[in-house]
Amino acid sequence: MSVTFRIEPGGVLKGRIRVPGDKSISHRAIMLGSIAEGTSRITGFLEGEDAIATINALRALGVRIEGPAQGEVTVHGVGLRGLQAPRQPLDCGNAGTAMRLLAGLLAGQPFDCELTGDESLRSRPMKRVAEPLNAMGARIETAEGGRPPLRIHGGRKLTGVSYRMPVASAQVKSALLLAGLYAEGHTCVTEPAPTRDHTERMLEAFGCAVEKQGGTVCVTGGASLKATAIEVPADISSAAFFMVGAAIAPGSDLTLEGVGVNPTRTGVIDILRLMGADLQLLNERSAGGEPVADIRVRGTELHGVEVPRELVPLAIDEFPVLFVAAANAKGETVVTGAEELRVKESDRIQVMADGLRALRVSAAPTPDGMRIHGGPYRGGEVDSRGDHRVAMAFAVAALRAGASITVLDCANVATSFPGFVELARSTGLRITAA
Ligand code: S3P
Repeated sequence: MSVTFRIEPGGVLKGRIRVPGDKSISHRAIMLGSIAEGTSRITGFLEGEDAIATINALRALGVRIEGPAQGEVTVHGVGLRGLQAPRQPLDCGNAGTAMRLLAGLLAGQPFDCELTGDESLRSRPMKRVAEPLNAMGARIETAEGGRPPLRIHGGRKLTGVSYRMPVASAQVKSALLLAGLYAEGHTCVTEPAPTRDHTERMLEAFGCAVEKQGGTVCVTGGASLKATAIEVPADISSAAFFMVGAAIAPGSDLTLEGVGVNPTRTGVIDILRLMGADLQLLNERSAGGEPVADIRVRGTELHGVEVPRELVPLAIDEFPVLFVAAANAKGETVVTGAEELRVKESDRIQVMADGLRALRVSAAPTPDGMRIHGGPYRGGEVDSRGDHRVAMAFAVAALRAGASITVLDCANVATSFPGFVELARSTGLRITAA
């Protein structure tokens, strides 16, 4: 099914909205709830295709899961040793998080299984998880070039390792920590730069000890998890489209409710503030071990910046829409140290540069980032290449375009943001989908 967005130019974003639940936290809640003892109740769950792929995978592994219904999911945990052999390969769809975290969870099981996904996922690098898991004693085979499908051989004895990650990846870190629950001794992961720590926080919420020191985090094998209630905050990565939309459209005044503001995720707020955006965090509180706030954004004039490299991993999923912010900022914005963008759901450096140039934005892709000169741009047709975040980024770009924008290949918006078009319309974006 192909979906095309058409967005009329101009408008402002106003009102109070809540975007859907956090994708990273939703995946983890299903996985940890499944291997816990007892019944876990999840609220605010993301009812998007990526998180549903994780539910389906755990169901295929013998876990009884009710829902989702209005964001509520009940997971009847089977305990650390209760998963069962699936009858067929587990389809992770478009979800890299599902595949990489499941690889860790399944590396130490007594049965064989296979993980596969859609065309985009089947082109993404998996050696980054297969190699360190194999060093723990697992036997995981990839296809050509370290790509999926992953064949995981069961009945392997895992031993804890100390692993220094070459790339700052929360998915790799999480895969090793999950495998570490099944390994003998300690499993420690050192990250080159801080990455999202939802796995660590949630393991603690399930009563599992996690040791942290500097950039190193360790778990001990055999610890049992106890079922708990998980309240999933609204996804800051989905909120980011509205933050940028309101920031670039003068006259906007939009409040995003209950957004997760874990400091390992708030790079987008820091970068937008450096660009001169008016963002306020209100009603700061904590939900299920995660900090949450309402975010109020008002339109202002933005200016270009050199994005500090240490903020890159903390905003890694927000660059498509940050490039749109840069196109609307006075002067030049330079992003470096972001080569990971080339191996996301699409090559987000190339695909964003192609789309921006189609709108006559001065955008120069580099191996590890982009240089963008902000200024007026026209409307036109851009191809999202099936990347949900690229599609939504170009939708908000229309707020300041000279004419309407057509975005092709938008069906995958449903992976992370079901209801995007309706919610965006309710705030003032002149968007239709066909
Ligand atoms: C995620 C980690 C990040 C991010 C992805 C979700 C996670 O990927 O881009 O969308 O939930 O752990 P990397 O671990 O590859 O950096």
